[in-house]
Amino acid sequence: MSDVETAPTHDWNGDSGTRWAANLARLDVMLEDFGKAAITAANVRAGELVLDIGCGSGTSTFPLAEQVGPGGHVLGVDISEQLVEIARAAAPIGAPVEFRCADAATTSLPAGSFDLLFSRFGVMFFDDPVAAFTHMRGALKPGGRLAFVCWRGAQENDWVRLPMSAIRDIVEPVPADPTAPGPFAFGDRQRLADILAAAGFTAIDIVPFDTTISYGRGATRAEAVDDALDMAFQVGPLSRALADQPEDIRARAADAVRAAFAKRPGETSVLIDGAGWIVTARN
Ligand SMILES: C[S@@+](CC[C@H](N)C(=O)[O-])C[C@H]1O[C@@H](n2cnc3c(N)ncnc32)[C@H](O)[C@@H]1O
Repeated sequence: MSDVETAPTHDWNGDSGTRWAANLARLDVMLEDFGKAAITAANVRAGELVLDIGCGSGTSTFPLAEQVGPGGHVLGVDISEQLVEIARAAAPIGAPVEFRCADAATTSLPAGSFDLLFSRFGVMFFDDPVAAFTHMRGALKPGGRLAFVCWRGAQENDWVRLPMSAIRDIVEPVPADPTAPGPFAFGDRQRLADILAAAGFTAIDIVPFDTTISYGRGATRAEAVDDALDMAFQVGPLSRALADQPEDIRARAADAVRAAFAKRPGETSVLIDGAGWIVTARN
C-alpha cells in the first residue's frame, strides 16, 4: 500500500465540486498538457458523436466539439450540478454541445450510438468501475473508441507526493486503499487493463504520459510558492487530510508544504512532475 494518503471522499455534487469550481483557472493550467495528449490519442473526426465523461466545466468538451464540427455532436455528462451549470454558461453559441447532469455509470444513453467515449480525469470515481464501463460501452457503436487520461500512482505525482510527504510527521497518515474510487484508483496499469477487459473493451492500450506541471503561479517566485501552497490546501488529498485539523497543526503543515514546494525549480511558477496514463481501447 502507498504511504501517501489518498482519502476516497469525493462529494462531487457538493464540496469537491465547489472546490473544483473555485479553482478552475489554475486546474486548467495544471491539466492542459494531459487533456491535449488525450484528445490527440482520441483521433476525433468531423461528424462524430462523442460522450465526454465527467466533463466538469467543459474544458475538454469544447475542443472536442470544434473537432467534430457542425455535423457532429458532443454530450458532456457530469454528476456535479455546479460544474454543469458553468459548462452550459461557457458553451460557445452554436457549438454542437449539450450537457447533462447525471451519474455516467447509470444514466440512460442511446445504445450503440457514440463513435467515441472520452474523458479528462473523469472516470476514476466509480464505485463499481466494471459496471460503469460496461454501461458506457453499451452506448458505443460497434468498433467505437474509448480514449481517456487518468493519473498514475500518487507516488509518481508531485502535486500529492510532495505535500503529503511533507506533513507525514505532523498529521498521522490515514491508511487508504489505493484502488478505492478517487484520483489514483487507476494507478495500477494491470488493474486498469483488467477492468476495461472485464467491461468488454478490446485493443486496450495504456501508455505513460509524463509532463512538467506548472503548479502555482505568481509575479515572483515567492508568490508562486504561496499560490502552490494555497492550491494544495484547497484541492486534493492534502485539503482532505487537514480539513478537521486545528489551526496550529494547519500552520505547521503550511510551513512544511511551503518548504517542499520551494525546493522545486521555476521562476514565476513551481514546476513539478506529473504522471498520467493515456488509455485507448475499442468496443
Ligand atoms: C477531476 S474532475 C475532472 C473534470 C473535467 N473532466 C476536467 O478535466 O476539468 C472529475 C469530474 O468527474 C465528475 N464525476 C465524478 N464521478 C462521476 C460520475 N459517476 N458521473 C459523472 N461525472 C462524475 C466530477 O463531478 C468532476 O467534474
